[in-house]
Amino acid sequence: MEFIHSRAADLKPSIIRQMSQRRGPDTLDLTLGQPSHTPDPEVLERALQRYWEGPPGYTENAGLLGLREAIARHHELQSPQSVVVTVGSEQAVYLTLSCVIEPGDEVLIPEPGYPAYRGIVQFLGGVAVPYPLVETEGFGPNVDALEALGTAKTRMLIWNAPSNPFGAVPTTASTERALILAEARGWSFLSDEIYRDLVYSGERAQLPSELSSAIFIVSGLSKSCALTGFRLGYVCGPQAVMPKLVLANQLMVTCAPRLSQLMALEILAEPERLTAHKPFYAEARQALMDRASDLPPQATLRVGDGAFYATVDVRPWLSKKRGITTLSLALDLLAEEDVAVVPGVAFGIDTGDWFWRLSYAAGPSSAAEGMSRLARFLSHRKIPADI
Ligand SMILES: Cc1ncc(COP(=O)(O)O)c(C=O)c1O
Repeated sequence: MEFIHSRAADLKPSIIRQMSQRRGPDTLDLTLGQPSHTPDPEVLERALQRYWEGPPGYTENAGLLGLREAIARHHELQSPQSVVVTVGSEQAVYLTLSCVIEPGDEVLIPEPGYPAYRGIVQFLGGVAVPYPLVETEGFGPNVDALEALGTAKTRMLIWNAPSNPFGAVPTTASTERALILAEARGWSFLSDEIYRDLVYSGERAQLPSELSSAIFIVSGLSKSCALTGFRLGYVCGPQAVMPKLVLANQLMVTCAPRLSQLMALEILAEPERLTAHKPFYAEARQALMDRASDLPPQATLRVGDGAFYATVDVRPWLSKKRGITTLSLALDLLAEEDVAVVPGVAFGIDTGDWFWRLSYAAGPSSAAEGMSRLARFLSHRKIPADI
């Protein structure tokens, strides 16, 4: 242990992964935000053809120029110099933070939220400052709360739209207010838009097409195009800073895998592919909503406007006195009904222990079957008397 840096020694396994690993061969798995589709074989075939045409090796550290041009067009940016291609969007978050924050800097992160934000900030020696996602605002951020949390040490605000775990899509008004606030206070603004093509109702706010000196957009094709296994993401940011991100990318990964980049190139040549799976998720989302009335009245299902996540508020079944948490309840659900969900505590130790997250990425029939099993489990489960 003495040879391990304290920041590595402090790392904890992801609760999402742990839940997912506990499933048996027949478990109905509603844990991972992982599409059940495989990537389109036709696109893969075309990408492979291009791959064999060569050259087959490393690409530029920033990614293939043609791909960066396509990404810049997709985000209405003028120059491919604003883009760095990464190994999944998670690496894009890591890369950006590694080039922006100093040890001790504070980063405002949404919580309950995507757990990697906290992990990455802390791993880089920063201080994660969670900002609440408020039920009264559809689990979107409250900009007044953000303003109050900022200090002289705040360096960056992380924004996630649509969000994990709530699928919330912040309004244009709150996004604009947050951008103005970040600019006025001298904070960088990182917009994680990995679910940008999965919005079922309402509209996702567009960021200004020319990125100001401190705005970064992170996204990728994992979720909308079922490319999780290809690990293809990117970050768009101010041209003055991007050359440094390219150098850092070189240190971390050299470049994203060429074949994955060629896949992305093929997909972006036919942008309608980005939303091709959306009707499938919309159907799964509807299947969940159709089963909401099966749940006992003490449980509340909330289905956000985007991403492929829903939550079930299980507070009535929890008990501090008896040690019943969202995690222990989820383990009981797994044992009794063979269905795996993610306990809310995975998205925020202090803020998330009141709900389960269900991923409906697995499709309509899994979503419907999962809800039936959940409803049966909760209906038979006694509500602890001390609550
Ligand atoms: C909000 C958010 N950002 C980023 C990612 C990472 O996606 P990937 O690295 O597969 O592109 C995820 C994955 O679950 C996510 O939920």
